[in-house]
Amino acid sequence: MTVITTSDEMRRAVGSWHAAGDTVCLVPTMGSIHAGHLALIDAARQAARRVVVSIYVNPTQFAAGEDFASYPRNFQADQQAIDAAGGVDAIYAPQTMYGDNHATSILPAGVAQPMEGASRPHFFTGVATIVFKLFQHVPANCAVFGEKDFQQLAVLRQMVTDLDLPINLIAHPTIREADGLALSSRNHYLSAGQRAIAPILYQTLSTCAGEIRAGGVIDETLDTAKARLLAAGFDKIDYLDLRDAVHLATSTDASADDRLLVAAWLGETRLIDNCAIGGG
Ligand code: PAF
Repeated sequence: MTVITTSDEMRRAVGSWHAAGDTVCLVPTMGSIHAGHLALIDAARQAARRVVVSIYVNPTQFAAGEDFASYPRNFQADQQAIDAAGGVDAIYAPQTMYGDNHATSILPAGVAQPMEGASRPHFFTGVATIVFKLFQHVPANCAVFGEKDFQQLAVLRQMVTDLDLPINLIAHPTIREADGLALSSRNHYLSAGQRAIAPILYQTLSTCAGEIRAGGVIDETLDTAKARLLAAGFDKIDYLDLRDAVHLATSTDASADDRLLVAAWLGETRLIDNCAIGGG
């Protein structure tokens, strides 16, 4: 496994693999590699002959006052974890992805507007721009993204369709701790007390999905779920919505594919999660 830090070298490596007839799959990450990332890497390995994992903490997806400075960074530990997992051909770890005079961004609309888009208006512009640039540096056949960031996946699918990008996006189900908490680099921020409360997020989503399946009135069921989260110790809920899985439009007649999506705060830590009404 090699570590590549420049876009020229990265493109050359991918070019030589393509020339040899090998397919390439990219796993974009911001590092702080955990079992969730390793599952994405595993899926990439099933999908293509060559696998590249990118590690870059993208400043443009953090607003002022968010956790860019404190976001966990430990390249050596990440490299060891990826090496131990095996089957990765290259880590792409650019120093920066933006030139001094960078002034061009992708502004996703549509699926990017509700929920995360409303709570963090800068976020999807930063994500779409960096992922577009990564796709230029690593011209892979496919890329794997986790369903934990369900709206991010929808935004990136929209971008790939709208901008005719020749890449196949692969969605991977959320990997969870035994108690149901979705794996996330931000879980490191939780105190012991908050960590004890955190699994209630997914438990509440699962209960809410069951109640909707059983015919509960959607608005009332969502309100009850929000009240449960606040009673359990969550400090604030940015949204808890029922949306269709493709367009992320508000759903009023729940079908099995519709999804509950939530963002809620424990102290200074913002957790997101989602689940399908039909389970998963
Ligand atoms: O999901 C993430 O880790 C990031 O948003 C991504 C896709 C690597 C872009 O920085």
